[in-house]
Amino acid sequence: MVIKFFLLASLLWGGAFFTQVSCFDFNFPSFPNDNNLLLSNNSNVFVQDAIQVTPDVRGSITNKSGRAFYRKPFRLWKKRGINAVFNSTFTLSIRNQTATAGEGLAFVLTDNTDVPENSDGQWLSIVNATTNGTSQANIVAIEFDTRKSYSQDLDDNHVGLDINSIYSFEQISLNSYGVYLSTGTNVTVQVQYDGKNITVFVGHNAENLDLVLSKLINLSEYLPQKVFVGFTASTSNYTQLNCVKSWKFNGTNFDEGLKFWVWIVVAAAVVVVLLSSGVAFYFYRKKRNESEDVEDTYPSIEDQIQSSTQAPRKFKLRKLIKATDKFNPKNQLGRGGFGTVYKGTWKNKLIAVKRVSETSRQGKQAFIAEVTTIGSLRHRNLVKLIGWCYENNDFLLVYEYMPNGSLDKFIFYNEKSGTGQSTLDWETRVSIIHGTALALDYLHNGCEKRVLHRDIKSSNIMLDSEFKARLGDFGLARTIQESQKTYHSTKEIAGTPGYMAPEIFLTGRATIKTDIYAFGVLILEVACGRKPGSQSEQNDYNTSIVHWIWELYGKDRIIDAADSRLEVKFSEEEMGCVLILGLACCHPNPHLRPSMKVVLQVLSGEAPPPQVPIERPSFVWPAMPPSFNGSGHSLTGSQLTPFSDISAR
Ligand SMILES: *[C@@H]1O[C@H](CO)[C@@H](O)[C@H](O)[C@H]1NC(C)=O
Ligand SMILES: *[C@@H]1O[C@H](CO)[C@@H](O)[C@H](O)[C@H]1NC(C)=O
Ligand SMILES: *[C@@H]1O[C@H](CO)[C@@H](O)[C@H](O)[C@H]1NC(C)=O
Ligand SMILES: *[C@@H]1O[C@H](CO)[C@@H](O)[C@H](O)[C@H]1NC(C)=O
Ligand SMILES: *[C@@H]1O[C@H](CO)[C@@H](O)[C@H](O)[C@H]1NC(C)=O
Ligand SMILES: *[C@@H]1O[C@H](CO)[C@@H](O)[C@H](O)[C@H]1NC(C)=O
Ligand SMILES: *[C@@H]1O[C@H](CO)[C@@H](O)[C@H](O)[C@H]1NC(C)=O
Ligand SMILES: *[C@@H]1O[C@H](CO)[C@@H](O)[C@H](O)[C@H]1NC(C)=O
Ligand SMILES: *[C@@H]1O[C@H](CO)[C@@H](O)[C@H](O)[C@H]1NC(C)=O
Ligand SMILES: *[C@@H]1O[C@H](CO)[C@@H](O)[C@H](O)[C@H]1NC(C)=O
Ligand SMILES: *[C@@H]1O[C@H](CO)[C@@H](O)[C@H](O)[C@H]1NC(C)=O
Repeated sequence: MVIKFFLLASLLWGGAFFTQVSCFDFNFPSFPNDNNLLLSNNSNVFVQDAIQVTPDVRGSITNKSGRAFYRKPFRLWKKRGINAVFNSTFTLSIRNQTATAGEGLAFVLTDNTDVPENSDGQWLSIVNATTNGTSQANIVAIEFDTRKSYSQDLDDNHVGLDINSIYSFEQISLNSYGVYLSTGTNVTVQVQYDGKNITVFVGHNAENLDLVLSKLINLSEYLPQKVFVGFTASTSNYTQLNCVKSWKFNGTNFDEGLKFWVWIVVAAAVVVVLLSSGVAFYFYRKKRNESEDVEDTYPSIEDQIQSSTQAPRKFKLRKLIKATDKFNPKNQLGRGGFGTVYKGTWKNKLIAVKRVSETSRQGKQAFIAEVTTIGSLRHRNLVKLIGWCYENNDFLLVYEYMPNGSLDKFIFYNEKSGTGQSTLDWETRVSIIHGTALALDYLHNGCEKRVLHRDIKSSNIMLDSEFKARLGDFGLARTIQESQKTYHSTKEIAGTPGYMAPEIFLTGRATIKTDIYAFGVLILEVACGRKPGSQSEQNDYNTSIVHWIWELYGKDRIIDAADSRLEVKFSEEEMGCVLILGLACCHPNPHLRPSMKVVLQVLSGEAPPPQVPIERPSFVWPAMPPSFNGSGHSLTGSQLTPFSDISAR
């Protein structure tokens, strides 16, 4: 009897506790203080019991950006795809301080509570010019935009959905709902996410909101597991007061770190249950086993990697922690879309350790791709993968260390100081192009399975101590399995703008010809010391390096494209040949791009550069194969001709 009572009591108690922890919820009917908030320097809780996300009128209010978050992070997903559900309702009050209001306020989920530098004005403190459009922004925002600051903005009164960018891929004007954001009146907003579908309701009357925007979005693809929820806002020359007057939030709490005493309660309950009923125990076990199955996330990674031949060695996480001095920022070598690279020392040798960011969307895939594809490759122009580690959700890759870093640092002007790090002479540049071509030929034609790199660009070419090129970063690489031989391609758009062949945007397929296009762009940038296109020009093919050089070629002035820092210390003939080869690789018609075999022949002087039309042909799709056999270089390229030892050439 006593035992039964205890059992009941502890179950009720435990049960009560579990319901409590199963919600992450808070409610601020107003903001009498800022105790539970994380406020940036420009934000405060002062006027009218509201959060002022950008400063109030006590000081300067122009060109300010601010962020305000709930103090505790919210666990957005349990494992990729198992997303939290949340529901947040808040009251905004935005009052223009100039005839034109500026700029706007946003409800955000992000892992970084710091205000990005220079994120005032148009940026709404969501991103800045550097982080806009990059996965390092790690932010998803519902923006309430009160100024049309971009041509892409609908108007000066809209709601938009932004991912890692100030660009709203979904936006809707509020005018037709009779809601006006910047008039200083209350606007109630409700944001709901059911794990798949995000929905935004807006209205002046809290009791009667309109559904204005809904979108299927898998937040775990864009955001890390733990995010802060809150608000960002900014002003420019055009100013406004950006207030949040009330805010409640209710979301799933994935009961992550259950407190110690909770475990005691559970243990006690289990003991009692054990005593009183074997059946209950049976169900308990069953349930627990089920949940353990779910918990055990990636058994397949290990299998996939270990079953690939010549697998690189597996490292222990603690060895790598030691090697990199606990991932000391001082040892950071670089940061890319897929993670951060650290320098380390292991067995008295220098190594480079890439920590694949969990937040990078393709993180896990990139990791497996890299270990399985490059792990089995051997070529002196490829960065060698020494090993890998997967522990505690941390993906790590260990490479040989490249003392001279990546090629891009050497060939581009540094816009700030007006100079590059130091420049490479022409001979070295040609040798780098040649080395990269050897590596690519090996991938396309020389190894067991054809490999597409899919992300050839100067920042992925590493330089060893002798400035020899080593192709690296196989995060996007894919092997083409025998069964897919007939296609020689892989679906899934990936790559870097500026290096992507025009047909990719139509077909979405990477092929050896799209790799060759990117290689052509690489040749051109190495010869010219110019980036393939600045960020704002990304989608504008008319201002790309390819167009620019093709135009010079048409005017018979192709040598003018040569990097001025070379101070004309090169053979004009060789420069012309390399540039024309680059153009040939960037031919809009993939069938007319030379194969890597032909590229190597041209580079070694065994063959003249391919014929290139005086005017850049326009891009036509579907592309026609060459009508006669004579120019069928591409045919050579699309045959699988394995060479066992290409490096012996
Ligand atoms: C915020 O204010 C503190 C104290 O005034 C100052 O130390 C800090 O540098 C400021 N931070 C920024 C990002 O301006
Ligand atoms: C605000 O920023 C704009 C654009 O950068 C600039 O023209 C203006 O002078 C700045 N205003 C103040 C008061 O700093
Ligand atoms: C969300 O994305 C993750 C990672 O890409 C994926 O594993 C998961 O299946 C997706 N979930 C849904 C519901 O689409
Ligand atoms: C979200 O919260 C609002 C206000 O608290 C409530 O009216 C609404 O029903 C909730 N929605 C869901 C899906 O729980
Ligand atoms: C705010 O905007 C309204 C209408 O656009 C305008 O009449 C008013 O003068 C503006 N307020 C200030 C302080 O400029
Ligand atoms: C953007 O913000 C990041 C992080 O705060 C900073 O490192 C970078 O320099 C900023 N870019 C600009 C253009 O200010
Ligand atoms: C920000 O990035 C997006 C791509 O995500 C791009 O479309 C937009 O033009 C960029 N905005 C600015 C102002 O650079
Ligand atoms: C998303 O949710 C909204 C509101 O519940 C609904 O109207 C909409 O149809 C849903 N969208 C999808 C694709 O399920
Ligand atoms: C902002 O105002 C300043 C003068 O107050 C002016 O010089 C500047 O051009 C304005 N900038 C913008 C972007 O409107
Ligand atoms: C605006 O909203 C706040 C917070 O919900 C509330 O206290 C205030 O009374 C509202 N003001 C008006 C005019 O409805
Ligand atoms: C939060 O949402 C859950 C599930 O929708 C609900 O059971 C719970 O009562 C809500 N909590 C609050 C405080 O609204």
